[in-house]
Amino acid sequence: MAQHHILKSKEDFSTFVSEVESRPGYARPYAYALGVATCWQSEIGGEHKVLDTRFLAINVEANYGTWAVLDDAIENLTGTVELLDDGIYDQIFDRFHAFRDEEGHHNIEALRILSEIAREDPEYIAGEVRSRIPVIAVVHTVDEQPTSAQEAYLRLHLLSLRHVRPREINLDGIFGLLNNVAWTNRGPIDPEAMNVFLAFDNLAGEHIGVHSVDKFPRMIDYVVPTGVRIADGNRVRLGAYLAEGTTVMQEGFCNFNAGTLGACMVEGRISAGVVVGDHSDIGGGASIMGTLSGGGKEVISVGEHCLIGANAGIGISLGDYCTIEAGLYLTASTPVTLHEEGSMTVVRAKELSGASGLLFYRHGETGRVEARPHNPSWGGLNTTLHQNS
Ligand SMILES: CC(C)(COP(=O)(O)OP(=O)(O)OC[C@H]1O[C@@H](n2cnc3c(N)ncnc32)[C@H](O)[C@@H]1OP(=O)(O)O)[C@@H](O)C(=O)NCCC(=O)NCCS
Repeated sequence: MAQHHILKSKEDFSTFVSEVESRPGYARPYAYALGVATCWQSEIGGEHKVLDTRFLAINVEANYGTWAVLDDAIENLTGTVELLDDGIYDQIFDRFHAFRDEEGHHNIEALRILSEIAREDPEYIAGEVRSRIPVIAVVHTVDEQPTSAQEAYLRLHLLSLRHVRPREINLDGIFGLLNNVAWTNRGPIDPEAMNVFLAFDNLAGEHIGVHSVDKFPRMIDYVVPTGVRIADGNRVRLGAYLAEGTTVMQEGFCNFNAGTLGACMVEGRISAGVVVGDHSDIGGGASIMGTLSGGGKEVISVGEHCLIGANAGIGISLGDYCTIEAGLYLTASTPVTLHEEGSMTVVRAKELSGASGLLFYRHGETGRVEARPHNPSWGGLNTTLHQNS
């Protein structure tokens, strides 16, 4: 039976791909990836929950020949599919027969590794079961909501690998798809099993380091973007988007679906959904309000060449060349006395949201919050600090 699927030449392969692509209902996805999900079960045969997913090959708007092979071999390849069946691998490798002696086909190499992982025995930890399950995860379009934890992981990877910018991919419902995980030096573990695991392994003389218990892992355990410095990996969640030249210092933080669009200095907090433009500086302890909790609705952007001073904060967006005085927390409804062409008017800060070229400060004598047009005098980013090669 498998014999019928062997495609002996590259021409046969091309013909086959064209035939699959002409089938009714066939669609090329925006992205698909081959990876391994770490799964947890309280006992063999029980329900398993996904703790994380690592990808060996991520394809974005590319490699549709492999997609056609997978689509043909796997029924219902509309969402995430676990690849455990030996027969499926045999069929897939028969399709790739013409490429078998060539190197550099990262999807074929990934599938070879996955076929070996599919045969692995599970591990027993604290009397429970951890296994590695090969998967295909798909993002048909960036507008659709994710439907599985594995697909949520793929979307977070697409952000951190800079295939999509924050807010360009739908992450609705992601908290419901991701499980809470104890992130340890022995891999991801179900938090409910942790106390038994810690007690038994410590008695056995093993040291277990747990660095966080969270639904999101730290980014740099999965993706290390080029040209960035991250002083403390715990402060950047997977799904952060950090552009080349960005430095995140120890007190800086960057949530998922948020980040920098150019070289930036981050010593404060970039909340989910927030983007910061090129050559801006988020000062030590500064905060940019997010929308995940606390009632805020406006998703904030900071333009280029802005400085948010140390311990300052904003609940409005900034255009380019804006400065917020150190320590000033500007919420959307803060009354601001605006100096303009010799006159002064009082407006709510939200009316200035997105405006460029403003300096916001508390008047040294009256304490009143004021804004005035300015040419920033803070000198811009220190270029030596931002050559992150
Ligand atoms: C807000 C800040 C930028 C003002 O700096 P500055 O050098 O005084 O700014 P400028 O000279 O450009 O000020 C422009 C005008 O606003 C006035 N102004 C600025 N801050 C003022 C204040 N608190 N009260 C009254 N007037 C003020 C200045 O007097 C000046 O007025 P003038 O043109 O009539 O003389 C500065 O105080 C600050 O907070 N910097 C943040 C630095 C920081 O935290 N970096 C991150 C490190 S981690």
